[in-house]
Amino acid sequence: MESLQALIEQIVTARTLITASFSQLRSKGEATYSKVQIKPVELKGKLHYQFAYFTGPKVEHRNIPEEQAAEEMMALLRATFRQALVCTAEADYQVLISKKFKVSVLTKSPTKKTAGSLAHNRKKQYVLDEGEPVPFLVELGIMNAEGKVLAKKYDKFRQINRFLEMVEDVLADLPSGRPLTIVDFGCGKSYLTFALYHYLAVRERRELSIVGLDLKADVIAHCSELADKLGYDKLRFLVGDIAEYNELEQVDMVVTLHACDTATDAALEKAVRWGASVILSVPCCQHELFGQIDNDVLSPLLSHGILKERFSALATDAIRAKLLDLVGYRTQLLEFIDMEHTPKNILIRAVKSPSGDQAAKWREYAAFRDFLGAKPYLERALEGRLPAGQAVE
Ligand SMILES: C[S@@+](CC[C@H](N)C(=O)[O-])C[C@H]1O[C@@H](n2cnc3c(N)ncnc32)[C@H](O)[C@@H]1O
Repeated sequence: MESLQALIEQIVTARTLITASFSQLRSKGEATYSKVQIKPVELKGKLHYQFAYFTGPKVEHRNIPEEQAAEEMMALLRATFRQALVCTAEADYQVLISKKFKVSVLTKSPTKKTAGSLAHNRKKQYVLDEGEPVPFLVELGIMNAEGKVLAKKYDKFRQINRFLEMVEDVLADLPSGRPLTIVDFGCGKSYLTFALYHYLAVRERRELSIVGLDLKADVIAHCSELADKLGYDKLRFLVGDIAEYNELEQVDMVVTLHACDTATDAALEKAVRWGASVILSVPCCQHELFGQIDNDVLSPLLSHGILKERFSALATDAIRAKLLDLVGYRTQLLEFIDMEHTPKNILIRAVKSPSGDQAAKWREYAAFRDFLGAKPYLERALEGRLPAGQAVE
């Protein structure tokens, strides 16, 4: 059965399946479906597999995300069916499974053509490819030694790739011709810190040093051990508070992903003080504005806790983006990962660039801040760098 499993997984991973049909029940007495047909479908822009389970004249459909499709197919082939016809873009596979689970696979020329929007090989081009073992992903338990991503780690794999796409987009904005200094504030278990090191130092062969900083001593000790094991000798992990970190004079890129509340602001302030060329920040929980916002006009919205919380979080990010604009950054807010995985999915990407009309931007910012009755931490922290005499008390 292992070779069959490998074949099914390879077909699903390569996204070449056109249709599959499973038949011939292993046990006729079993009250179960008599046949299952499978085809790829796109739902909300994502590849799924539609399983049609036939019981007499009835058919029940289930749409299964691609990460779970191979597992479901193998479960059916192990327990229920002894015959399968799997049609892919490359070949048709006629599968026979004996009563004693001996598998024979006959490979024939393809008889089915791909059709519609799923016609083309839709394999997503990730920065890190599945099938190619990457040492840090293997060590972190995201891939196995053969490079296969574990089903329950697929979201993490996608998040890492999404993050690296964002980094890829700003490569040209980083200084060249000298080693880079990068800090990851609130690095936690450091999946993304290791990813950044792998991508920049190992793959792109950039000379650099990266510091990961976090409050949690045990987590940092574990990350340090892993960096040693991987031979990532320019990746250091330190225990400390973002607001008190004063080790470096100059930093080229600051990353801060899901650091809590105003820890994100402390990180942004440090980045601005260093004149970092690039800032990548995904804020986490945001409590500061929630306690400050006060405006009668907004009371229909602010009187509902859940709406007030969401609104405060969005307003906080708008304020951060505008303040970064005001101190000389071109700032974008991007979707980090799908909303369905976490609502904390906005990435602030700021790239140092010449500023436009600061006075007009300041007026816009101050009007927004005053309307909300907000006294943002970041504005106070950036005092002296903002247009003179306007910071809040
Ligand atoms: C939700 S985790 C995110 C970890 C990682 N950046 C990621 O995105 O997977 C937030 C981390 O920020 C750290 N943190 C929160 N406030 C901090 C502060 N003031 N200084 C340093 N680390 C902080 C926490 O200890 C925690 O490990």
